[in-house]
Amino acid sequence: MSSVDECKIVNLGRVGSSAGNLSPLYGGVHVPFDIKRVYYLYDVPGGAERGGHAHLKLEQLIVAVSGSFTITVDDGDSQRAISLDRSYYGLYLPRLIWREIIGFCTGAVCLVFASLPYDESDYIRDHQDFLAVTRRSPIGGGAAV
Ligand code: TYD
Repeated sequence: MSSVDECKIVNLGRVGSSAGNLSPLYGGVHVPFDIKRVYYLYDVPGGAERGGHAHLKLEQLIVAVSGSFTITVDDGDSQRAISLDRSYYGLYLPRLIWREIIGFCTGAVCLVFASLPYDESDYIRDHQDFLAVTRRSPIGGGAAV
């Protein structure tokens, strides 16, 4: 069972110069996983919402490399909203967190580091299914997922 309290902001640090900034990111250092995949969201129209799902196994780190957006996280019990608007902060998401990404500003780029390759069977895309899975977890009194 994951908790929204495990959704942590990670400070990636900055190597700055008069020619701009650079932020390096290492798997196993900034995130507790080996990075198997990187993808990014861009050209997101105003008012669009991304996410709207949870993952059975996947862990992620989400970075607003440009612009800003808000990520709402839900563990089936508690919810939080975290706004990202700095290129050197990331949000770590463990498995079994329902997330929605909203409030994209024009030109925002959402960079995602993922612990596994893309696998549609790892997605839970129905919120009722998500609640059923989290309530079957040990904290809910049943079998672990
Ligand atoms: P999805 O993860 O639902 O997007 P978001 O959470 O940003 O709203 O993926 C959208 C589509 O893109 C879906 O058809 C699967 C596809 N996709 C890939 O082919 N590879 C990937 O690595 C990802 C993340 C998605």
